[in-house]
This record gives sequence, C-alpha cells and structure tokens, in this order.
Amino acid sequence: MQIESSSAIVLGGASGLGEATVRALHTRGAHVTIADVNAEKGASLASELGLEFVACDVREESQVQAAIQHAAALAGGLRIAVCCAGTGWAQKLAGSKGPHPLMPFETIIQINLIGTFNVLRYAADAMISTEPREDGERGVCVNTASIAAFDGQVGQIAYSASKGGVVGMTLPAARDLAQYGIRVNTIAPGLFDTPLLAALPEEARQKLGAGVPYPQRLGQPPEYAQLACHIVENRMLNGETIRLDGALRMPPR
Ligand SMILES: NC(=O)c1ccc[n+]([C@@H]2O[C@H](COP(=O)([O-])OP(=O)(O)OC[C@H]3O[C@@H](n4cnc5c(N)ncnc54)[C@H](O)[C@@H]3O)[C@@H](O)[C@H]2O)c1
Repeated sequence: MQIESSSAIVLGGASGLGEATVRALHTRGAHVTIADVNAEKGASLASELGLEFVACDVREESQVQAAIQHAAALAGGLRIAVCCAGTGWAQKLAGSKGPHPLMPFETIIQINLIGTFNVLRYAADAMISTEPREDGERGVCVNTASIAAFDGQVGQIAYSASKGGVVGMTLPAARDLAQYGIRVNTIAPGLFDTPLLAALPEEARQKLGAGVPYPQRLGQPPEYAQLACHIVENRMLNGETIRLDGALRMPPR
C-alpha cells in the first residue's frame, strides 16, 4: 500500500511506538489521524504536526467506530490502521497473596486483545468500501503484540495471554480479509525505549539493553515505525507476526 496521500489511523498514537509511527507516516505523506485515550498528549502531538486527534478508548466500540469513521472520511477512505494501544500488568498466577484477582486480568485482555479486535473489525469494515488499488489491494492493518506472547516471564500471565491472543488473531484475520485485498500483520517488539520503560532508573534500563544479543541496547521507537511502514508497503507480507527484538529471548525472570 502506498503511504503517500493515503488515510492512516494510529490507535495509541500519542506516545512511544505509536507516536513514532504517526511521525513516520506523516513524514511519508499520509493523512494521519491520531487516536488515543490520553487526550492531552494526543492533542499536543496533533497540534505539533498539524494533524487531527480523536479521543478514543479502544475498549469502547462506539469510540473506535467514531475514530475510524473520522479517518475514513479523509483521502478517499481508510487504507492504513496501526494499533499500538496497550498496557501492562505484573502479577503472579498464585502465591502468598492468594490467586491472581480476575479484575486486572480482564482489564488487560480488554485493552490489549479486545481493543485490538475492535480496531481490526472496524478498520476492515471501512477498508472494504474503498476502491481497490494495484493487485486489488484495499488496505493494511498492523497490530502490536510483544515477545511476551512467546517468552512470558514470571508475573506476565495477563500480559502474555493478551499478546498471545493478538498473535493468534493475525492469520485468521488475514484469511478472513484476503478476498477484499486487506492485509493483516503483527509486530512483536522486544524491549523498546518508550515512556513505558522510561519510568525505570537509567541503570535498570542499561541492564535491560545489555541483555539483548545484538544490538546490545533497547530498541528505538523509530525502528518500530520503520518496520510498520515496511509492512504497509510490502504486499507480500500478510498473516505474519514479526519479532523485532535483536534476537532477545526472555528468561523466566
Ligand atoms: N516498549 C516496549 O518495550 C514494548 C515491548 C513489547 C510490546 N510493547 C507494546 O507496544 C504497544 C505500545 O507501547 P509503548 O511502549 O509505546 O507504550 P506507551 O505507554 O508509550 O504508549 C501506549 C499508548 O497507548 C495508549 N493507550 C493505553 N490504553 C489505551 C486504551 N484503552 N485506548 C486507547 N489508547 C490507549 C496510551 O495512552 C499511550 O499513548 C503496547 O501495546 C505495548 O504492550 C511495548
């Protein structure tokens, strides 16, 4: 899918990997809509770049629908949907404090998995009504999982389950949408230097980075954005989850 002049939406676009993707798509000439639950950061990025911001909690069907409709009204219809909205939670399945409570598990599933499902289904629905381009292509969706989908650590049961669900949706989503020329791929990042990790002391961040085989550092958000843009442009990439992790395989703890 050609990026220049296409309508794109980035959910979770106000910060970190999503913000870098907004910047990359904008630089390449897309008409980008930023959607995020953080209205302050989203609106500030939108005003810096001269873009539109839509407040949106990916758990809320009507808000996702409204954000997608906004993007679909631009440049002949929605072509690119990138979902970076997500969050984490650390708690063991059971232990001295008793069983893992259901509530944070449900919340993480709602944001990371059901949120991604909401974005996929409404984005696909909007893309279906666009005119096909070269190769009959109508659009492309990029999801964000994590290497925790494969190498979940101690305390990552909720997060790993949610991201494993995102990986699991990727192939059936691509198969469901193949007849419309819509592709679906997922990026599974390793450790990236975003506000999510910025809360850690510098020493802890250095240590995390040093555990990556090569390059021995945290990933930079523009490196995620670079892959997201490549996925958008390369039509043979479909139904795949790509690890972006410098060969990191997370140990148990
Ligand atoms: N940073 C990493 O090392 C790393 C590694 C693996 C996976 N990831 C995943 O990448 C994605 C982006 O993470 P990040 O590191 O850029 O974090 P971040 O906190 O910088 O950005 C996440 C964005 O998602 C938004 N968001 C959270 N809940 C939302 C909701 N319910 N509806 C809409 N927006 C919501 C936040 O407001 C924020 O702007 C997440 O899904 C995260 O799980 C990050």
